[in-house]
Amino acid sequence: MRVAEIKDKAIGPGTREDLQPGFGQALIRVRAAGLNGADPIQVAGFYPPPPEAGVPDDVPGMELAGEVVSSAAPVPRFEPGARVMAIVAGAAQAEYAVVDERQLMPVPDGLDWASAGGFPEVFLTAYDAIVGQAKLHTGQRLLVNGAGGGVGTAAVQLGHALGADVTASVRNEKNRAGVEELGANRALAPDEAFEHGPFDVILELVGAPNLPDDVKSLATWGTIVIIGVSAGVDGALDLRRLMTKRGTVRASTLRYRTPEEKAMLAREVETSVLPLVADGRLRVPIDAEFPLGEVAAAYERFTGGGHLGKIVLRCD
Ligand SMILES: NC(=O)c1ccc[n+]([C@@H]2O[C@H](COP(=O)([O-])OP(=O)(O)OC[C@H]3O[C@@H](n4cnc5c(N)ncnc54)[C@H](OP(=O)(O)O)[C@@H]3O)[C@@H](O)[C@H]2O)c1
Repeated sequence: MRVAEIKDKAIGPGTREDLQPGFGQALIRVRAAGLNGADPIQVAGFYPPPPEAGVPDDVPGMELAGEVVSSAAPVPRFEPGARVMAIVAGAAQAEYAVVDERQLMPVPDGLDWASAGGFPEVFLTAYDAIVGQAKLHTGQRLLVNGAGGGVGTAAVQLGHALGADVTASVRNEKNRAGVEELGANRALAPDEAFEHGPFDVILELVGAPNLPDDVKSLATWGTIVIIGVSAGVDGALDLRRLMTKRGTVRASTLRYRTPEEKAMLAREVETSVLPLVADGRLRVPIDAEFPLGEVAAAYERFTGGGHLGKIVLRCD
């Protein structure tokens, strides 16, 4: 089968032996697989998949959508041919992948392959962060830092769907109107966005340099959730101000969670989020699609920045 392969710290097309599903796994004919921040880091030799996941560390990809070919689950939830999507610990950017059956979600009717392939990682991450961890609810104020990318555009839409007032911090001016169309009450340059606090929930997708302004603009009892650190990992946290605000700082990753934790999150998203996707209230903005054979160009587009939403590989 054809795959995206990491060789000498570069990404390109490659081939692998065909796969067989192990106990509890389904074999998926991958139709589309999204790119994520972890992928270029893995190509550079860091952030490998967790060893216990049993996926190769030289085939990247953390999300996919496709059709079930066969299942070795004791009680399969999906028949062969069913349209499914999932987060995986790695190796999604390939013609075929094996997935823990419990992590599969159905692809809503009408959702195209590119959108389905770009949905799981960013919507599960955004939902887990702002709903699961920060308990965002109707009428609260949400700030999304780094709102133009995959996780950011998912968080903006989820915040809007929940009835929150959403401020989006978007560094690239050309993407601000698009983020407002997705439901942000205002999409602004980073320094302007902080002026619109105080925020009950701040989703931090950029990293450490934002910490001082995050704490300053946090509401009393507010929560900062740190999910992305591309701009830096070491930052200043004003503990007195954080105490005065009775603030909470949380941080998390999805990739190293257990299969059971990932499956539980998939079930929550299936029941709470997929109905909104099915009726068109949530969507996956696709910035660009590339065939699997042009994986290097897809990575270049992703790391070049400036994209609105997702960059997706087509694997069919
Ligand atoms: N913890 C987890 O489990 C988890 C899961 C998924 C993703 N992540 C991380 O979360 C982050 C966001 O993911 P994503 O998929 O949304 O990535 P993405 O599509 O690349 O989007 C990142 C966004 O952040 C903006 N940005 C980057 N550096 C910035 C800076 N210094 N100042 C202002 N804006 C900046 C980018 O703007 P430009 O377009 O202008 O560059 C882009 O809009 C990544 O770091 C990713 O690795 C973590």
